[in-house]
Amino acid sequence: MKNLSRREMLGGIAGAAAMAGAAPLLDARPSLAQTSEYGFTPGLIYLNTGSLGPTPRSIFEQVLKAWTDLELNPVNKAYGGTTHVLADKTRELVGSLIGCSADEVLLTRSTTNAMNIAGLGMDLGSGDRVLTTDVEHEGGSAVWKHLEKRRGVIIDRIAIASDDHDVKGIVGRFERAIGKETKVISVSHVITSTGLRMPIQEIVALAKGRNILTVVDGAQAAGNTVVDVKKIGCDAYAAPGHKWLSAPKGTGFLYISKDAQSKIQPVEWTDGKAFVLGSAGMGSLPLMVGLGAAIQAAQKRGIAAAEERNLRLRNRAYEGLKKIAKVQVVSAPPGPLATALVAFRLPDAVDSSAFRSTMREKYDIMLKQTEKRWGNGMRISSHYFNTEADIDAALKAIATELS
Ligand SMILES: Cc1ncc(COP(=O)(O)O)c(C=O)c1O
Repeated sequence: MKNLSRREMLGGIAGAAAMAGAAPLLDARPSLAQTSEYGFTPGLIYLNTGSLGPTPRSIFEQVLKAWTDLELNPVNKAYGGTTHVLADKTRELVGSLIGCSADEVLLTRSTTNAMNIAGLGMDLGSGDRVLTTDVEHEGGSAVWKHLEKRRGVIIDRIAIASDDHDVKGIVGRFERAIGKETKVISVSHVITSTGLRMPIQEIVALAKGRNILTVVDGAQAAGNTVVDVKKIGCDAYAAPGHKWLSAPKGTGFLYISKDAQSKIQPVEWTDGKAFVLGSAGMGSLPLMVGLGAAIQAAQKRGIAAAEERNLRLRNRAYEGLKKIAKVQVVSAPPGPLATALVAFRLPDAVDSSAFRSTMREKYDIMLKQTEKRWGNGMRISSHYFNTEADIDAALKAIATELS
């Protein structure tokens, strides 16, 4: 295994580009990640937005401004004052992002927090069944496990192998698994381990007319792809700010459709829907201002435009990985099922945790090691601040380590 410095790595980009199929460059601009807008360690190639996205300085500054304003007179500013008004406006901005009204949005700390609120807000009891998959993230399944333990709810899980791209087959398995006692279908919009874009509308449609609530875990979708909750038709949609939206860490939201609000009742909404007042309690006002600012920045970039560029980066990674004999790409090929995340399996003899550390320590590249229950794998997730050079450097590092 050859030990390359980062300079050598970047110097070898032309070679790596050839290996990656040398698709034409998307743009000639230098990496945004290395500008003063981002706080990354100099030289770091960050390919793990799927776990946490970076918060640019311009968003940071808006958070600090809101915080400074808040401290001028905490009580006055927090309860109905300017900081509160600004933070609460984020519900409207979430609405403009996912296509709903502010009255259908609850601001949360994270996806997990949003999923927990949705599950605990339902009237589920012993023998009620929740239908989900075996590839849900812990954050999308913790609440069901809690209800299983505390209230005797039963969880049914559809199996989805990491290289399963047969979405018709997946919909069929969902349909066959629905029973009389199924009260909830809970599923990810984009699968965390592989980036598979799920046939979410088709799965949600199965619930209609059957008195089944649908809860979508949008952790890998919001800000990564265009989300339209009305088109999806789900009852609830949970998502973070701190991944694909580049919002401050500790931000997220929960959509609950007007129609479902009689069946999903968050404690936070007992006294109304405003962020922070009454039953919601105090929350992080400045961070929510940051979430609003991040949504506006994402809309300015254009979610669809950023996605298109990002898919080209992702496809470059996909094609490049395919040429590395020792890895097995498990994500969907370029096409309608692909998203910005691409995952691959390492040979059994290579420990994914050690491989991740090597990528970070030797090459300054941040990848995600996927959970062992999904195989001995790694995941690359690029976003608007990444470049072809980042992808090519990762491909070259992976190939070098496995040679
Ligand atoms: C599908 C999915 N759900 C939930 C989570 C947890 O997100 P959060 O940290 O916002 O709770 C993740 C994180 O990677 C995820 O991929």
